[in-house]
Amino acid sequence: MKILVTGGAGFIGSHVVDVLLEQGHEVVIYDLEPPVYGQKCENILADVNDTAKLEAAAKGIDAIYHMAAQANVNIFFNEPVTSNYNTSNSTINVLEAARKNNVRRVLLSSTEWIYGSVEGDESTQITEETIYAQNPDHLYTSSKIAAEMFCRNYKTLYGVNFTIMRYGIPFGERARAATVTPIFIDKILNGGEITIHGSGSQTRQFIYVRDLAEGNVSCLKPEGENEIFNINGREVIRVIDIVTTLEEILGKKANVKFVEDRMGNYKGRFISSEKAEKLLGWRPKFKYREAMEKYVNIFIK
Ligand SMILES: NC(=O)c1ccc[n+]([C@@H]2O[C@H](COP(=O)([O-])OP(=O)(O)OC[C@H]3O[C@@H](n4cnc5c(N)ncnc54)[C@H](O)[C@@H]3O)[C@@H](O)[C@H]2O)c1
Repeated sequence: MKILVTGGAGFIGSHVVDVLLEQGHEVVIYDLEPPVYGQKCENILADVNDTAKLEAAAKGIDAIYHMAAQANVNIFFNEPVTSNYNTSNSTINVLEAARKNNVRRVLLSSTEWIYGSVEGDESTQITEETIYAQNPDHLYTSSKIAAEMFCRNYKTLYGVNFTIMRYGIPFGERARAATVTPIFIDKILNGGEITIHGSGSQTRQFIYVRDLAEGNVSCLKPEGENEIFNINGREVIRVIDIVTTLEEILGKKANVKFVEDRMGNYKGRFISSEKAEKLLGWRPKFKYREAMEKYVNIFIK
């Protein structure tokens, strides 16, 4: 297939491009930035809000992964107007370019944040049927919910097929330096202090970026058409487990400071990716510890 990937130069997008190329697809990256991880494919340096360029790029394309967005929630908070433009408005642009060019499918990168703070603990299972947060606590969440709605509208109103992929928290090679895992690695290596709120028993489900990329690509299967999938890790990891795992891998003790728990510190609940396993045959290949070892070895090189 010939596939356009908006945001294909970014953290997750570059891994998705790698897997698509490995599987023999023809890929065109559409991004403001050039690809820097050595992908051998066409790339178009352009804005997803430049509708003329986007529509021209969508000519002859079979499927579009729409991954370009403002993925940094802190920047989203500080620059809401442009961030929303790049996140939800850009989705309409992509859907419209697909409609005009009879592209067979648009696959949208979404997030588990759209479930909001669902009450419960780890025994609370969230599936794709769980309703959207009715009172989202971040503009990023609202923008992604809008993007999902636009996909559904374009299917109902114009027959443009979609797949919505709701990611968990990714980690791994090429991650932004200001995310939890690279920060912890850096602090352990350099003796910096790691602050943990409460006892560190809050849980998260991490997904190794390579597994996430394979999950994205498995969504291309016909079974993925007009479906929504959670693409998430299966292991429940306590915040303190991140530290101990890294201590073991790096062979160095962390300098951890435990401080008072934050009000409403989110305790975690389980997001099920069973649907992706059943329909697409996808499940993460790497155990958390194994993925972390791979990542750390590349990170410290
Ligand atoms: N990283 C996460 O924790 C996470 C979690 C869930 C969902 N997502 C979603 O996954 C997708 C990819 O996220 P990421 O972490 O790889 O982000 P990233 O910032 O590394 O990559 C985003 C890419 O989009 C490009 N881009 C941004 N605005 C653009 C525009 N107007 N025109 C063209 N290109 C533009 C950027 O140059 C960048 O290369 C995003 O849609 C994000 O919201 C990310």
